Amino acid sequence: MNEIVMQENQQQQQVIQHAARQLEAGMLVAFPTETVYGLGADAENPDAVARIYAAKGRPSNHPVIVHVTPEADLSYWATDIPPQAQQLIAAFWPGPLTLILKRASHIPDAVSGGQDSVGLRCPSHPVAQALLRSFKGGKGGVAAPSANKFGHVSPTTAQHVIDEFPDETGVGGAIAAVLDGGQSEVGIESTIVDLTRLATHGPVLLRPGDISAAQLAEVLGVMPAAPDFAAPRASGTLDAHYAPNTPVVLVASDALASTMQQLKEAGRSFALMSHGQHGKTEALAHLMLPAEPHGYAHDLYADLRALDAAHADVILVEALPDDREWQGVNDRLRRAAFDSRDVLGSLLA
Ligand code: TXA
Ligand code: MG
Repeated sequence: MNEIVMQENQQQQQVIQHAARQLEAGMLVAFPTETVYGLGADAENPDAVARIYAAKGRPSNHPVIVHVTPEADLSYWATDIPPQAQQLIAAFWPGPLTLILKRASHIPDAVSGGQDSVGLRCPSHPVAQALLRSFKGGKGGVAAPSANKFGHVSPTTAQHVIDEFPDETGVGGAIAAVLDGGQSEVGIESTIVDLTRLATHGPVLLRPGDISAAQLAEVLGVMPAAPDFAAPRASGTLDAHYAPNTPVVLVASDALASTMQQLKEAGRSFALMSHGQHGKTEALAHLMLPAEPHGYAHDLYADLRALDAAHADVILVEALPDDREWQGVNDRLRRAAFDSRDVLGSLLA
């Protein structure tokens, strides 16, 4: 290791330690994870957790995920931990998987929105792990939803976090630090599996992500069930979520050319997100993403933000194959487009 790299590492260590002290003091810290950036608070301090809800503008009955170190003692956080949890942890932690378990009685229900469960995740990002190891000597948990305003696109860079919270990240704002760990590798939020109702429902996939249902099934021996009405509430599972300000509309590949033509004739502007070549278009901005789920997920949120900045009347997204490997990406796109399903009609009227 050369001297400059060593100095940078030392500086980074100091920044992380300072952030851990801020968390211990009840302040908010935004930090990178391999999925998206999180807005963190001490999970055992209800006042600190309340600051997350206030900053995000999120209803306080929505639970947040508690992030722990790889060395964490899960029995501190959860009770009745089933063998399936250990199997999934052995296969996927540290990594983009959140487990919903029965909450230990001394863990404040502020982190679970009043439900008797707790969501636990051990992130693989080195900056997240360094922060967790410094915070309360590695024995604490950091409650962190994605670091965006409620319902908006999740951040995958430190700059996105600052763009989301211009006031809160300024001097004297509620967010004491924003740690920069580069662009999040995975790009969409963790896969969430509910293991609290195994006897009646089996494992339930509450939110698809980079770890697919098929990968979970390989470890669990059964395909996880789709969420039912009794499933724990999860804001990432609301119909409308992950949305930029510009309306998003999903359009089948073979309908794209005619849709763009109609918009042009109606005098409407559009931005385009495709995964195939579409030659020259009239789009105000056009981004082409990889035609492969991991690469697409990696770029998805940053590209939605970039297209949003074009201030077009609509963002057209070329629809993706409706198969299992695209489940996580399709889930996010469907929720981003949910509120704008009637937009094309009114733009073309
Ligand atoms: O990848 C991720 O999971 C990111 C990073 C920061 O770790 N976090 C994230 O948090 O996406 P958030 O709050 O935006 O989404 C967490 C989801 C929510 O839909 C929440 O309701 C659900 O997890 N969740 C958390 N704890 C839960 C619990 N006890 N029961 C049911 N759902 C829970
Ligand atoms: Mg979120």
